[in-house]
Amino acid sequence: MDYQVVIPAAGQGKRMNAGMNKQFIELDGKPIIIHTLSVFEQDDWCKGIILVINEQERAHFEKMLKQFQIKKVVALVSGGSERQHSVYNGLKAVQHTDTVLIHDGARPFITIAKIHQLVETAKEKGAAIVAVPVKDTMKRVIDHLVEQTVDRSSLWAVQTPQAFCVSLIREAHERANAEGFIGTDDASLVERMGKEVVVIEGDYTNIKLTTPDDLLFAKAILCSMKGGSYV
Ligand code: CTP
Ligand code: MG
Repeated sequence: MDYQVVIPAAGQGKRMNAGMNKQFIELDGKPIIIHTLSVFEQDDWCKGIILVINEQERAHFEKMLKQFQIKKVVALVSGGSERQHSVYNGLKAVQHTDTVLIHDGARPFITIAKIHQLVETAKEKGAAIVAVPVKDTMKRVIDHLVEQTVDRSSLWAVQTPQAFCVSLIREAHERANAEGFIGTDDASLVERMGKEVVVIEGDYTNIKLTTPDDLLFAKAILCSMKGGSYV
């Protein structure tokens, strides 16, 4: 089995409010993006990482890759104004494989076991994503008033990685660009083409580091992954 992965890391991390791109925040002495890259570095199925960055941060990324000996990055590509544009730029650099994963740089706790499940499914079905059933009661709220309690039984919170046949996801992005459509994830661009997207149950620990409180959870998850106890 083989795949390449596009990792968008060209955001500004505004909601993290750290005064820098959140990818550079250190956890356990390593920047978040290095934690993420290390998983793919260690996965034998991964035949290349396309890292999407902000051009102004290129030197910083290059320095980190050298320092932490990340060797599988085959291209450092410039990002765009929206995540979708960043991913599209990354997809153009994918080569020598029929399967691509797209994974947020800010999601460092993905496991190789879950990646393999996704890759196998995407090779068979064309598109596969990881998601977890929502745990809270969901209500539609407008102006602080409840509009509706939504049936939770069919609601899943979607994560990355998302895995696709390379030609399918390129076509989905090209169509979305041509039609001026911006989706909140890559699978939605495939869905709007009428194609099936398979959902694989993921792990609640595969969080995206978005706001400062996520760093508290991140420290606990890291500790538990290293075999420690955090309760
Ligand atoms: N991303 C990107 N290019 C953009 C926007 C986002 O490559 N124009 C990347 C981010 O670096 C991140 C991932 O997409 O790894 C998910 O985005 P998000 O969590 O929203 O990160 P940021 O956009 O950096 O954060 P914020 O929205 O709070 O500014
Ligand atoms: Mg963002």
